[in-house]
Amino acid sequence: MRTPVLGFSKKTKTEKIDWLVANYLDNDPDAKFTLTRYWNEDEKLQKLHDDFIENTLTNYYLPLGIAPNFLINDRLYAIPMVIEESSVVAAASNAAKFWLDRGGFKTTVISTEKNGQVHLNYFGSESALVQYFELVKPKLIASIESIQKNMKKRGGGLKDIQLKISTDQLPGFYQLHCTFETLDAMGANFINSCLESIAKTFEIEAAQHAHFQSKNQFPEVALSILSNYVPECVVRVEVSCPVSSLAQKDIDGPTFATKFVRAVQIAEVETRRAVTHNKGIMNGVDAVILATGNDFRAVEAGVHAYASRNGRYTSLTHATVLDDEFRFWMEIPLALGTVGGLTALHPLVKLVFKILQNPNAKELMELVAVAGLAQNFAAIRSLVTTGIQKGHMKMHLMNILNQLEATSEEKQKTVQHFETHAVIHSDVVHFISELRK
Ligand code: MEV
Repeated sequence: MRTPVLGFSKKTKTEKIDWLVANYLDNDPDAKFTLTRYWNEDEKLQKLHDDFIENTLTNYYLPLGIAPNFLINDRLYAIPMVIEESSVVAAASNAAKFWLDRGGFKTTVISTEKNGQVHLNYFGSESALVQYFELVKPKLIASIESIQKNMKKRGGGLKDIQLKISTDQLPGFYQLHCTFETLDAMGANFINSCLESIAKTFEIEAAQHAHFQSKNQFPEVALSILSNYVPECVVRVEVSCPVSSLAQKDIDGPTFATKFVRAVQIAEVETRRAVTHNKGIMNGVDAVILATGNDFRAVEAGVHAYASRNGRYTSLTHATVLDDEFRFWMEIPLALGTVGGLTALHPLVKLVFKILQNPNAKELMELVAVAGLAQNFAAIRSLVTTGIQKGHMKMHLMNILNQLEATSEEKQKTVQHFETHAVIHSDVVHFISELRK
């Protein structure tokens, strides 16, 4: 019979592991071995990682790979990616190579504004609240002076505060909609600190306000938090070339372009396809976000909301053929940081930034967007030609072989055999068992 554990976070790492193994892993000695064998032998480095979160037990490896040959605004990059899915880095590398010979990727940062809200409950006179807001606004701005001093020095900070009347959505619901420029920081901590200070000042001042006092009805802060929906923080990425240049081994340029554009149009009109299509984009986006220590959940949430901004979930990418020119592009909201968070802490993240030639936040937006478009290009290219499984399973073959604990010799023979045969899990198992007879 298991009982709840008290004071768990106070236990040492070894005590936590012992507790877990005793209570949830049947005292299996292999479990403890598996957890501890991933500890880094450099204790200082291990401690650094332990301190990222609470109750760390061990490290969880994901591969860090590199996709070279990305030509972006006429500059060459090798893009580091952290991802578990076997085909993603290969797909990125293929797309990079494809566009290297066709002019590369062109990017533009369209906007960089972040936002957050102080959500309010207020059931009194709307005009009185509007008047109070105008009166208190300078005090709200003054209340964050010390928080934003450094950010302002660098040219960022709070841009504006607006009172939004949202009572048609929810009775008594108003918002202080605050906009920010956070430069090279993702800005979550900065924005949340500003919002909490604004919220506090708003409530303190409201308690002194004559109208609210006379009615004994005060606006109340429900919650204050940044928004991960950032449609004013958007980057555009595009590739283009003459249709004839799209010719490949088994397909001519016009046929490929027609099939490709059609595939994108299907994702534009059909939500079920759009979700998978955009998932493929996020394979590239998330992999670079993870490699750079950024917050992929924030980006995921914001991107999918953006994909539904017109009331229906649709494709993030678009493609056209006009006057024999093929164009493929995407606009995507990305709130990213190159300072703060893990960026100065995680040794691999620091190295990743060096590999990326020390981008600022705007340049990182461009690089991440390129990885997303490249990934989508590679996926659609496979889907409209060979099908996705050929490349996918070829990459997955090594995972199957590792599962079967194949020797190097077995691996070599199997890879050779499946160069000319479709990789199907049961066929690989059969092939290995035949080899082992
Ligand atoms: C698999 O991770 C991603 C794809 O399904 C994307 C797509 O269908 O466009 C291949």
